Amino acid sequence: MSQSGIGIAVTGSGSAVPIHSLDNDKLSQIVDTSDEWIAARTGIRSRRLATPEESLTTIASQAAQGAIAMAGLTPMDVDLIILATSTADDLFGSACQIQAELGAQKAVAFDLTAACSGFVFGLVTAAQFIRTGAYRTVLLIGADVLSRWVDWSDRRTCILFGDGAGAVVIQANDRDRLLGFELRSDGTQNQYLNLACQPQPYDLLEDLTIGRGSFQPITMNGQEVYRFAVRRVPEVIEKALFRANLTVEDVDWLLLHQANQRILDAVGERLHIPAEKIISNLASYGNTSAASIPLALDEVVRSGKIQPGDTIAASGFGAGLTWGAAVFQWGR
Ligand code: UT7
Repeated sequence: MSQSGIGIAVTGSGSAVPIHSLDNDKLSQIVDTSDEWIAARTGIRSRRLATPEESLTTIASQAAQGAIAMAGLTPMDVDLIILATSTADDLFGSACQIQAELGAQKAVAFDLTAACSGFVFGLVTAAQFIRTGAYRTVLLIGADVLSRWVDWSDRRTCILFGDGAGAVVIQANDRDRLLGFELRSDGTQNQYLNLACQPQPYDLLEDLTIGRGSFQPITMNGQEVYRFAVRRVPEVIEKALFRANLTVEDVDWLLLHQANQRILDAVGERLHIPAEKIISNLASYGNTSAASIPLALDEVVRSGKIQPGDTIAASGFGAGLTWGAAVFQWGR
């Protein structure tokens, strides 16, 4: 519990994905790959892809509406909107457009970029605003449309990613349901996963050349990212559990960033968490970056699998490099 005596509770969830799906067989028509290879190496079978008309703002707003409704609130009750994304519709940020779309006039809104760790970083950020007494109701959205930035001729990366959005409502609560967290960053390993600006030289004056904006597609060293995840994720979860004064036996659900089934399995094995406690929906959606944790959470909440009071160990990891874990209980 914070010094102010104010705790936090996660009281609603929602999610939304684009209509069009691309399964592994169809993907094999685009690059030299196969359903067997992708399923065996990643567990992914299909992914959703946004059309040019389906903006990040649209799917993020849909996810947000679901979360606000589940919490029994209206958009006017929201004090703060945090949009965790690396693929905003606008480099200046998309959170304000979502605020307008929802009609959440009272809310202040900003984007937060921490790649696939964005949801966990956002959850902890939201908790700080609530625990200090600054805000009482936060809408946290994790949403990404990485399909816009994937090199569709690179079979090592394009098979992994999909588009989607997930959201939660986080409210001030007498009992603090965020039990522990740990966030980490390591910029020295930044080169392993990039969606980097690639400025094009532009002669503004005879003696002044500036860089005009454009981005190179996602580049990744898959093996290095894999090694990093399998080593660092169990570590950071154990640290968050330690801060929560809990052990792995207290965890009801392991909710990892949905990057690769082999990573989920390896982390579960290292932590001795049985497969039935590991939430996985990446077969249907692939890696949806900041959306993957709230999207998977919303599915299990709506299916009735997760019950109020269940203890969830959530962990995100990815570009930056960034990684982090948050241990929280669902509901008030
Ligand atoms: O949010 C975090 C995002 N990133 C991740 O989570 C990525 C973590 N890394 C991974 O998930 C895995 O490294 C991958 C799934 C990306 C790759 O799996 P891998 O077991 O590390 O495969 P690899 O890169 O070692 O490639 C093995 C072979 C290579 O062939 P050779 O050189 O052994 O002949 C690749 O050329 O598989 C080949 N290959 C493919 N074959 C068919 C690579 N991609 C494909 C493909 N289809 N899509």
